[in-house]
This record gives sequence, structure tokens and C-alpha cells, in this order.
Amino acid sequence: MKKVSFTEFGGPDVLRLVDAEEPHAGPGQIRIAVRAAGVNPVDWRIREGQILGAHPVELPSGVGQDASGVVDEVGEGVEGVEAGDHVFGEGSATYAEFAVLSAWARMPEGLTFEEAAGYPSVVETALRVIREVGVRSGQTLLVSGASGGVGSAVLQIARDRGITVIGTAGAANQEYLRSLGAVATTYGEGWVERVRRLGHVDAALDLAGSGVIRELVELTGDPRKVISIADLGAPEFGVRFSGVAGSVPEALGEAVDLISRGKLHIPVEKSYTLAEAAAAHIDSHAGHTRGRRVLVV
Ligand SMILES: NC(=O)c1ccc[n+]([C@@H]2O[C@H](COP(=O)([O-])OP(=O)(O)OC[C@H]3O[C@@H](n4cnc5c(N)ncnc54)[C@H](OP(=O)(O)O)[C@@H]3O)[C@@H](O)[C@H]2O)c1
Repeated sequence: MKKVSFTEFGGPDVLRLVDAEEPHAGPGQIRIAVRAAGVNPVDWRIREGQILGAHPVELPSGVGQDASGVVDEVGEGVEGVEAGDHVFGEGSATYAEFAVLSAWARMPEGLTFEEAAGYPSVVETALRVIREVGVRSGQTLLVSGASGGVGSAVLQIARDRGITVIGTAGAANQEYLRSLGAVATTYGEGWVERVRRLGHVDAALDLAGSGVIRELVELTGDPRKVISIADLGAPEFGVRFSGVAGSVPEALGEAVDLISRGKLHIPVEKSYTLAEAAAAHIDSHAGHTRGRRVLVV
């Protein structure tokens, strides 16, 4: 089979499309014929060798954790899924023609493989940070970096729960944030004042890692009401960095429920082929993805 792989840490040019042995489903796992793989910032962070503590890597390594596809092998002890089912979920080395998943759910009616590959990690992250920041119905949540993959999920889940969201994004994404039910404003010069004018903020999420932790603490008045997923310096301000994934099967279950009720849609900004994985990483690294980028197999 074909698979995207790298033999040394480095820039996007270390990625190669190679011939590889097919992986097989171990106990508690399934194998899918991949139809699409989600491109997440963590994929290029791992390729660069940035976060080896949290994500140990043995070289040569495959790339990717999110995927959608058709089940073609079911591991020992797995029930409730069979060959031919259409699923989406998380596993390893998903930028490939076949991949093994350790968490999955059946794709809801009406979702394409391309769209489905964009959900698993962002929904798990969004549910986790909303829970950790402790925001409730009737309160207002400020989201810095609201138009990316995680932001798109946070905004829609918050809306479903009766939480008001003020989101920051670039000028080109203001209308997009409004379409997801948020009050939108731009980041950059003067953004704190713009947010203040929009009203009281009960809690805040830093999803972009753009060096705004001090301001988010000022706006909420309490470092315990702020969570970052992208700024490792957050603890200097008494703010929690959330980095340990919660339950992916639970998140996929919630994603299916939200999607089926028409409450969650993560748009695909752009699709690429496996051979274009390096271009997808360059585009993701530029930091202005609306929704998700995916590789189509
Ligand atoms: N710790 C964890 O568990 C965890 C989990 C998932 C992701 N992450 C990290 O969280 C970050 C976001 O992930 P993602 O998948 O949502 O990324 P993404 O889809 O690439 O989105 C990045 C977003 O950041 C926005 N942005 C860029 N510059 C900004 C600025 N100066 N101020 C505010 N927003 C800005 C962009 O908005 P515009 O396009 O409108 O400029 C874009 O929507 C990444 O760094 C990722 O590595 C961490």
C-alpha cells in the first residue's frame, strides 16, 4: 500500500509517499481502507520533533491520527462493527491507504468521508476545553482563535448548550464566526477594548497560542477561568494548559449526536491527495485554516 512517512524530523520536505506493508488490526482495534485523513497541527508538530515527550516517535514514522473509511478488518474482542461499515475515528499513520483505528464510530447519515475525517480530534479537544473551563448555559465564553478546527467545534457545541460566545478571528472570518452563532471581533491592535465593549466575559479559551494569556486573565478576572491548548507559557500566569486527550469514543458519540441533530458542521477548507501531504502541512502551519484540511485517498 501507499503511505506517507518520514525517516528524520524536519520541514515538510521530509515527508515521502512510500510503499509499505499493510498494518493489521490488533485486539480492540479495527482496520479501515482510508478514504480521507484529517490534517491537524499536531501532525506537523510531531514531524518537526516538537512534542516528543507527549508523542514519542520511532523513525521511520507514519503521519496522521484522524481518518474516515470502510472497515475491512476487525480485531479480537471488537463488537458492534463489521467489514463494510463506514466509520470515522482516531488511530495512527492515517495518511495511508490502510490504517488501524483504536477509537471509532459509525459515520452519521449525510456526512461525506472527506468531511468525516475532520471531526475526531477537534471534537474531543472542544468538548474537553469546554468542560475544563467550567462555562455554563447563560454565561459568556471568549474564544481567541475561533475560526480554526477546534474553534469551529467549540462555537457550535457552546451554542447548543446555551453559552454565548465572543470569538476572535481574522477579518476574512468574521462572517464565518457569525454563521456559527458567535459575536465576532478581530484580533490584533485594540482587540481587548473591542471585546470589553461587547460585554462581560465569564471564561476564556486560548486556541491560537498568539501570546494573549495575560489579556484573557484580565478580561475574565481569574486565571482559573482561562484554558490554553496552544501556549506552553500559560502556567506562568496561573492558567492551565490542557494537553491530555479525554475519551475519544465518548467524543465521537457526542459528535454523531450533534451532527445528526444538525448542530455541528466542520467545513473542509481544502482537500489534497496523499502525494500532496507536504503542501497540506505548509498550509496548516500558516495558521489560518477555516475548519479542517483533509487528504483524500
Ligand atoms: N493541547 C491540545 O490538546 C491541542 C489539541 C488540538 C489542537 N491544539 C493546538 O491548538 C491550536 C489550534 O488548533 P486548530 O486545529 O484549531 O488550528 P487551525 O485549524 O490551524 O486554526 C488556527 C486558527 O488560529 C487563528 N489565528 C491565527 N492567528 C491568530 C491570532 N493572532 N489571534 C487569534 N487567532 C489567530 C486562525 O484564524 P484566522 O484564519 O481567522 O486568522 C485560525 O482559525 C494549534 O496550535 C494546535 O496545535 C492543541
